[in-house]
Amino acid sequence: MAMRRGWSVGLLALGLGVVVGCGAGDAPGGRAAGVPAKAAEAAKPAGWDAKAWRPPALAEAPNDSLGAAIRRGYALMTATQDSLPKYVGGNMRCTSCHLDGGLRATAAPLTGVYARFPKYMDRTGAVIPLEDRVNYCFTRSLAGSKIPTDSREMQDLVAYLAFISRDVPVGKHMPPEGLMAMPTKLVGDTARGRAIFAGNCARCHGVEGGGTGTAFPAVWGPKSFSIGASMARQERAASFIFHNMPFDKPGTLTEQQAFDVAAYVVSKPRPDSPGKEKDWPSGGTPYDVPYGTSDHKAYNPPPLIARPGSRAAAIVPPPAGVAQAGR
Ligand code: HEC
Ligand code: HEC
Repeated sequence: MAMRRGWSVGLLALGLGVVVGCGAGDAPGGRAAGVPAKAAEAAKPAGWDAKAWRPPALAEAPNDSLGAAIRRGYALMTATQDSLPKYVGGNMRCTSCHLDGGLRATAAPLTGVYARFPKYMDRTGAVIPLEDRVNYCFTRSLAGSKIPTDSREMQDLVAYLAFISRDVPVGKHMPPEGLMAMPTKLVGDTARGRAIFAGNCARCHGVEGGGTGTAFPAVWGPKSFSIGASMARQERAASFIFHNMPFDKPGTLTEQQAFDVAAYVVSKPRPDSPGKEKDWPSGGTPYDVPYGTSDHKAYNPPPLIARPGSRAAAIVPPPAGVAQAGR
């Protein structure tokens, strides 16, 4: 019995070896198709290489119902406010931060995201599905309301996120995930930041930070992201700005300048995020979170703007247990 099992595992490994061999034959420097793989290579579970992986182009989406959902999802990412005005109050869209349709590595990339959820989120203190993660960006980053998980729009967004995660094995992580950590932890100076903003940012984002139309999103004020967004934290904003701004000349600010202008931007008024004090319920709040939690004192808190009625209580709570909900 034991021998027979060993024999079938051997066959399976051989089968895998042939599949791996064929795939690698297409890649430059790969083995020619049909050449048997060495036993050790054949034993590898799957020949997936994070560095060699590339997301598919939108033009590769199939010409069927799924392809239509993927294209609608992409349209929602880039025209979020126009498409969902009842859910997004400001002048931002998903791709205001997830640049290049979520593909840019330095701007909280969404490539492979479908493969790394459900995931434990320490800010929430719970395991959450991808739909809840999307809704956190609706409620916090877009300072809007969550969209129903079973809505056509949510399914379209998820179809797009699954598409740009094509062939990434479930459970695989692909650094960078989220915004990259800044190489050096510096402290920003808001007075220096104000001058940097006037000279490098105001021509697109406006002297008052409110942006210009939907092409240039607000960086503070009622149309911008809420205090509960990762972007409202000095170090997180510094990373986004250091790597991606000014939009037409990224890489021209020093690390210190990025911290200074980030400190200035996050010190300005922005929409509140009700319930934020319940974040990081198990502790471990990062140093630059601008509001107080159970284990943290607010770091340079900005003035807050009350959110209009429908969006005031829109924060996504951690998933409730059915036993509890049914009680
Ligand atoms: C104000 C900027 C901003 C906007 C607008 C925004 N996001 Fe995000 N989003 C972020 C940041 C920053 C992170 C990563 C947080 C971190 O550092 O872990 C993130 C994380 C995510 C993640 C989880 C990524 C991962 O690797 O786990 C998803 C999914 C996501 N956003 C989807 C969306 C969608 C869909 C929209 C539009 C409905 C949107 N976001 C709008 C800033 C934004
Ligand atoms: C040439 C115009 C331009 C300049 C200059 C510029 N930005 Fe941006 N910025 C953009 C655009 C465009 C986006 C959104 C990208 C999109 O929607 O595709 C953006 C997005 C952002 C975001 C994330 C979205 C939001 O609204 O919060 C921040 C933060 C930001 N910029 C900060 C800055 C800072 C700070 C500077 C100066 C150092 C700066 N930008 C200079 C055009 C510009």
